[in-house]
Amino acid sequence: MTEISKVAVIGAGVMGAGIAAHVANAGVPVVLLDIVAAGAENRNAIAEGAVARMLKADPAPFMGKAAAKLVTAGNIEDHLDLLKECDWIVEAVVERLDVKQALYAKVDAVRKPGSVVSSNTSTIPLATLVDGLSDAFARDFIITHFFNPPRYMRLLEVVGGEYSRPEALEAVSRFADLVLGKSVVRCEDRPGFIANRLGVYWLQAAVVEAVDLGLDIEDVDAIIGRPMGIPKTGVFGLLDLVGLDLMPHVNASLAAALPKDDPFHALNRPVPVVDRLIAEGYTGRKGKGGFYRINREAGKRKEAVDLATGQFRPARKAGVEAVAAAGRELTRLLEHDSVHGVYAWRVMGATLAYACALVGDAADEVAAIDEAMRLGYNWKYGPFQLLDQLGADWFIARLKAEGRAVPPILAAAAGRGFHRVENGRRQVLGPDGEYRDIVRPDGVLLLEDVKLAAPPVLRNGSAALWDIGDGVACFEFTSKMNAVDPDIMDLLARSIRRVKKDFKALVIYNEGSNFSVGANLGLALFAANIAAWTEIETMVAQGQQTYKALKYAPFPVVGAPSGMALGGGCEILLHCDAVQAHAETYMGLVEVGVGLVPAWGGCKEMLHRWSTLGRLPKGPMPAVGKVFETISTATVAKSAAEAKDLLFLRPGDGITMNRYRLLADAKARALAMVEGYAPPEPPAFVLAGPSAKVALDMAVAGFRRLGKATPHDAVVSGVLAEVLSGGDTDVTETLGEDDLLDLERSRFMRLVRHSGTLARVETMLMTGKPLRN
Ligand code: NAI
Repeated sequence: MTEISKVAVIGAGVMGAGIAAHVANAGVPVVLLDIVAAGAENRNAIAEGAVARMLKADPAPFMGKAAAKLVTAGNIEDHLDLLKECDWIVEAVVERLDVKQALYAKVDAVRKPGSVVSSNTSTIPLATLVDGLSDAFARDFIITHFFNPPRYMRLLEVVGGEYSRPEALEAVSRFADLVLGKSVVRCEDRPGFIANRLGVYWLQAAVVEAVDLGLDIEDVDAIIGRPMGIPKTGVFGLLDLVGLDLMPHVNASLAAALPKDDPFHALNRPVPVVDRLIAEGYTGRKGKGGFYRINREAGKRKEAVDLATGQFRPARKAGVEAVAAAGRELTRLLEHDSVHGVYAWRVMGATLAYACALVGDAADEVAAIDEAMRLGYNWKYGPFQLLDQLGADWFIARLKAEGRAVPPILAAAAGRGFHRVENGRRQVLGPDGEYRDIVRPDGVLLLEDVKLAAPPVLRNGSAALWDIGDGVACFEFTSKMNAVDPDIMDLLARSIRRVKKDFKALVIYNEGSNFSVGANLGLALFAANIAAWTEIETMVAQGQQTYKALKYAPFPVVGAPSGMALGGGCEILLHCDAVQAHAETYMGLVEVGVGLVPAWGGCKEMLHRWSTLGRLPKGPMPAVGKVFETISTATVAKSAAEAKDLLFLRPGDGITMNRYRLLADAKARALAMVEGYAPPEPPAFVLAGPSAKVALDMAVAGFRRLGKATPHDAVVSGVLAEVLSGGDTDVTETLGEDDLLDLERSRFMRLVRHSGTLARVETMLMTGKPLRN
């Protein structure tokens, strides 16, 4: 089978550049080519410019600076022969058949035999793309449809044509899954594939119905948003994000490709207000605004467009009684006796019915359609999961009451639903009307499946311990936002004893969108407000001892984070023997943001790492300086790769690109460490004491003078400097792990009583934003 070790991307626009960056994120060299701009002095200007722009973009397409070095930028006139070395060539040029086909002919003349060529087209069928090209080319040609932005959107739709070699599809799918971390959904060669076929229909329905019913866009976004597990950008916020100007193009090309009887045509009416916005340059967030804009002349006021007049007016807070009245009951929202209830039903009734009609057309399996909407449009629930929430019978009754046809797959779900759990296994309704097990690919292990099979080994209100097989246990946070609290510490201590007795190794992992946002600040503030200082100190000490017990437990412990791992959530990982991190892991010790210092061993572990692994000049000061810089600025690594640069991860820690593969990878890593396992040696610290603190204080004073540090920043940094310099020590003395923990704890206690710190904690809890006092 084709092994993919070098990739080329042609077209360095929005998608091509992002795809190339993501291939580089995976550590694979990639050639990025574009045209030579007319009259350009630098013939590589377009591709090179794209790389330069990406290095500055936020959210960053690159996971780290090293990745950018793997991209070779060039042009298709001078560098076509670079394609000879590439195993996979991705075409991501403008959506024009003539341009794409002319390029394929050039590519075919130079590419190596058996290399795979794919198009990132959104709308052109594969059969059309290869029409008139050689048989050999058609055999090696497939469609790989990435979503924007390619690093962050996990969906990859893959389409094979009549002539495509199965091995070509397989090789690219495997690479996309294992190396790029994408969730690959195989689609039929149908217009818009799955996600955009349904997604564009949904958006168009939401826009035209909103115009017809004369709704406010804020209300629309509140209805077709959170209550349905759809991101809070809703409909109009999402269109602003992707760009309004894309809408007419995508709609037109879909309409041109779809059969005449497709329900999309009925919705695809011109929307004058949208055309007018585009004509006036309101193309969305990339331009001067879209449906929403910030009016700078009116003091940066947020404004929303009135769909009836096309004029902007001050934005207002959505107040939709139907949403409030429905609570968690989606049926009540769709049945609500108000214009908003009517709207919710018109949009979602049509969208979900259309999803049913796509079974046997765009996809055979409902699971593929669910996955495409979850990962391509960030819906929390796929359409068939939403239908299960509503109840298939309820939905059928409503369609019938309106005299509308019931799609066959929906009829098959009558009286039962699309998903069920049978003998601890998840099952889904197949197109034949039979349920079948959802089978995970090799190397995919999900805690959500483990949970169906057996009760937890241990559990309390904030955490659980699960048996994930082969002698490995998994410790899961279950608290709100996975915040670390005394119950977690308690169950962790019990889990350590249990694993010692009954298991070989422990993995710390959960399936929340964030591994942990840190310690539970609400609890800390409550304790501080009643001056329960002893209780707070006990909480800190308990955490220190538990994390230490984890570190020296007689079995290997592997942390497996994804998403944010902040504060106490970062510190638990610092105490693991190894970490297997999802590539999209954001680690940081952010305690100073709330006026505190890390006190569950975070300062201690970071000092030890920078002194032993930091490759710094000799002496205690360089390591102290590095850790001080990282913690005093609350630096958060924006990827697992960046976490390695900051030593939140060790050089040998693993990175898993595919979120679904994280637990299995962590488990394998833990098992590999079992034989001959010995806990780490306790560290010893030689620190410079007050003389080092003076140097750090001077640096902070400098930031104060420049206005970069606030008064309370200076207080907190001063205390942090005391901890990191070893307190009242000097270079003739060696400090042990407990000395550092005592320092962390006592200085934490000093700060937690400070009014400046309490104000920060309170603001963070109330607004979610740091207070700069
Ligand atoms: P874009 O307009 O941002 O970039 C296209 C790039 O192709 C430009 O840099 C252009 O100079 C270059 N180009 C044009 N002709 C070329 C040629 N003959 N050889 C080499 N380079 C050439 O377009 P975008 O948005 O990146 O789209 C690219 C493809 O990806 C299209 O097929 C589009 O339908 C598809 N797509 C776009 C998505 C999006 O959100 N923008 C999402 C998924 C797919």
